[in-house]
Amino acid sequence: MNSTLELRNGIQLPRLGLGVFRTPSGEVTQRAVLGALEAGYRHIDTASIYGNENDVGEAIGRSAIPRSEIFVTTKLWNADQGFDSAMRAFDASLKRLGLSYVDLYLIHWPVAGLRRESWRALERLYEEKRARAIGVSNFMVPHLEELTGVARGMPAVNQIEVSPFLQQRAVRAWCAKHGVIVEAYSPLTKGVRLSHPVVCEIARSTGRSPAQVMLRWGLQHDLVVLPKSTRPARIHENAAIFDFELDSASMARLDGLEEGLATGWDPRGQP
Ligand SMILES: NC(=O)c1ccc[n+]([C@@H]2O[C@H](COP(=O)([O-])OP(=O)(O)OC[C@H]3O[C@@H](n4cnc5c(N)ncnc54)[C@H](OP(=O)(O)O)[C@@H]3O)[C@@H](O)[C@H]2O)c1
Repeated sequence: MNSTLELRNGIQLPRLGLGVFRTPSGEVTQRAVLGALEAGYRHIDTASIYGNENDVGEAIGRSAIPRSEIFVTTKLWNADQGFDSAMRAFDASLKRLGLSYVDLYLIHWPVAGLRRESWRALERLYEEKRARAIGVSNFMVPHLEELTGVARGMPAVNQIEVSPFLQQRAVRAWCAKHGVIVEAYSPLTKGVRLSHPVVCEIARSTGRSPAQVMLRWGLQHDLVVLPKSTRPARIHENAAIFDFELDSASMARLDGLEEGLATGWDPRGQP
């Protein structure tokens, strides 16, 4: 569970993170985050649009784990893109989180016409050491190519939807070539493919759950995985993925499940 990947600036990124998208604000988020920290998670993925940054911060404050041992990501929402508004939005996120810095700040979505200015703001926040690393989310190859033309440094991370049913091979190859770590969001397809017969068969043969099989597939493809759950048993289940391995035949079967399934918004084709 302590397994990490090294970002381009040497910072260690835990390979498992708890996602809190659609985790209702208030006690539910606080319980999920506290439960995850107690279960050994050291990475929490929130966003200003999730409306629960204050609960994430509250739970971190209540936990016995030192702040320096927890990797906290939040994201710049679309309505706040642009240089000045991004700087203001970051301040507001930090205030809601009750933190003096975040470990990773991401541009949530490649908003046309504004994303370059937003990136400039993220570079400033990085220089000011208020974000230990900066990156993007939902950037496809053309968005990444555009950024390489204007950025002083490359994003450390690109957070995109990845599962056996949406493998994003071209983006992943581009990121691997340029040293950008890919984080897989909705790694459980929001639950909609957890009963797929191939996934279930591999789960039976390995003695693991379908969710663990999907997450392990991601780890073995060098992804960071960000499953979301509010249920303690599932939070534990989703973390028990570091003590087994899928053999090459199982990996090949899972690799064969590509169907271009986007369970949320889909940045492919976004100008
Ligand atoms: N950057 C972006 O644009 C973006 C977009 C989407 C998501 N994300 C990030 O990625 C995280 C995860 O994505 P997601 O929330 O869309 O979906 P997900 O993690 O693929 O799936 C979550 C769903 O699966 C259920 N679940 C969790 N563990 C399970 C298990 N072991 N067995 C059966 N069902 C299980 C959860 O229900 P319960 O909660 O009831 O257990 C929930 O309904 C988000 O929370 C967010 O942090 C980022």
